[in-house]
Amino acid sequence: MQSLHRFVWRDAGRRARKLLDFAETEADGGRDLIRAAELTQDPVLRRLYTVHAADEERHAALFRARGTELLRALPDPGQARSGMNWVAPGERGLDDLRVDRKSDAALLAFLHLSEKTAAGHFAAYVGALKDDPSTAAVFREILHDETFHMNYTLAQLNRVAPTERRSYLWRARMGRLWKAYLRIMAAIAGVIGAVFLTLQYFILIPPFAFLAKRAERREPQGWKAVAEERPLKSQY
Ligand SMILES: [Fe+2]
Ligand SMILES: [Fe+2]
Repeated sequence: MQSLHRFVWRDAGRRARKLLDFAETEADGGRDLIRAAELTQDPVLRRLYTVHAADEERHAALFRARGTELLRALPDPGQARSGMNWVAPGERGLDDLRVDRKSDAALLAFLHLSEKTAAGHFAAYVGALKDDPSTAAVFREILHDETFHMNYTLAQLNRVAPTERRSYLWRARMGRLWKAYLRIMAAIAGVIGAVFLTLQYFILIPPFAFLAKRAERREPQGWKAVAEERPLKSQY
């Protein structure tokens, strides 16, 4: 897996693209956490969610700054390759956050698993970025916060649902698995759609093109004489 990460992060253009994508995800997560802070009735969680949101906003700024720096250093910034985010997704769990529909315990379980996965990914990226110490330093700094997010969410889950902690974590895990399944199926559907549309293009369009060309050949060139004078009765 480490060699795959090294491959994904090797190209400077892709590195820039990924950091800018990550900045979007982090900023989006920060906005959702502000909403969670507004909705919760628990004052401790409200304070923690607000701190958490500020952290995610700071991560977004760090990623954006480093991504822009890398992009500007490229000879041709327009050539930045796709981020391959299906291999190295960053803190993608926050993408799926639906704060309005979750209880405090369910949200904490979801956040804990997302932050744990993100911390694992970011630690792997630090290892894969040995040739780019500045980007590795950004990940190292963010990893420190992600570890705090991972720990506080579990500690708070223990506080708000001490007896049902396992069940909330289990449900959150199932929800993540279901979303991963949907993502894979959507990707497969995209590939199948592209194949079928390409086949249609090459199988169905040529006969129509042939008929149109034949009809064009039969048409006389230039102006055509009208059979009789038609007086203009109306504008239409
Ligand atoms: Fe983050
Ligand atoms: Fe986080």
